[in-house]
Amino acid sequence: MTKPPLDILLCAPRGFCAGVVRAIDAVEKALTIYGAPVYVRHEIVHNKYVVESLRRKGAVFVRELDEVPDGDAPVIFSAHGVPRSVPEAAAARRLFAIDATCPLVTKVHREAQVHHKRGRHIVLIGHRGHPEVIGTMGQLPEGAATLVETVEDIARLQPPDETNLAFVTQTTLSVDDTQEMVDALRARFPAIVGPHKEDICYATTNRQGAVKRVAPLVDAMIVVGSPNSSNSQRLREVAEREGCPLVRLLLRAEDIDWSLFGGIRRLGITAGASAPEVLVEEIIDAFAERYEVSVESVSTADESVFFPLPRELREQAAE
Ligand code: F3S
Repeated sequence: MTKPPLDILLCAPRGFCAGVVRAIDAVEKALTIYGAPVYVRHEIVHNKYVVESLRRKGAVFVRELDEVPDGDAPVIFSAHGVPRSVPEAAAARRLFAIDATCPLVTKVHREAQVHHKRGRHIVLIGHRGHPEVIGTMGQLPEGAATLVETVEDIARLQPPDETNLAFVTQTTLSVDDTQEMVDALRARFPAIVGPHKEDICYATTNRQGAVKRVAPLVDAMIVVGSPNSSNSQRLREVAEREGCPLVRLLLRAEDIDWSLFGGIRRLGITAGASAPEVLVEEIIDAFAERYEVSVESVSTADESVFFPLPRELREQAAE
């Protein structure tokens, strides 16, 4: 039986960012140097496949530090960052802590701390409950920052001093929504200070840019990623807003609902910053079983960002 033709447009860049590569390398390096178990607080990155493969190698994932027994085994903090209370608690228990917080998240922590030292109240643009937001809020004393999620939240804001305000943002937000919120903040509080644009990272910006280019050209778009991955959810939203008629966020090929994908001629594929390329390949292979596929890469940005391993591991690796 002849297969129908299908053009696959692969968004580039897609998939792993430098912060995710560093966090996964940190767990693997710690396992090599110290052996299992290596404790990891929270999912090291938001992807079940990555977490499961590290678990098989000896990583033990915990929700909170009190699940880590006393002793010499390393405990690694995830790429999303942690509140200050977490490294403090680890130090009090003399645990061997390795911080795999993405350097671009650490940069936001520093900005927030500098604003606070200068006496500014901080407005954090982000999603309530996301680990990165919990980590950034946790750099500051209670009441020093207010979280806003929408333009409506900004309209309702009652800051302690309107003339002494600063803003920071989560790194994995929608570029367009955040611009709207920054504009709303600047319109309401002209004296507010903040980063030149926002704190959205290069990887989030580039992946959304590639989806904007591809989504209008295809009949359907697959975002490879986890439902709890903020940047993957934003990619899904960007594709929907660009008018793509069918957009699905999927973890793996086995999650494809084939009844939805009958009769398409052009398919776009991207992947969130925590989704490994092997899962993109798995999805292409699944389509290749049903269609005569031709694959074309659509590139909108070059990436060469690299972050060295956390200091504790660099020192050990050099010895
Ligand atoms: Fe860092 Fe951005 Fe990736 S903040 S972990 S480079 S999505």
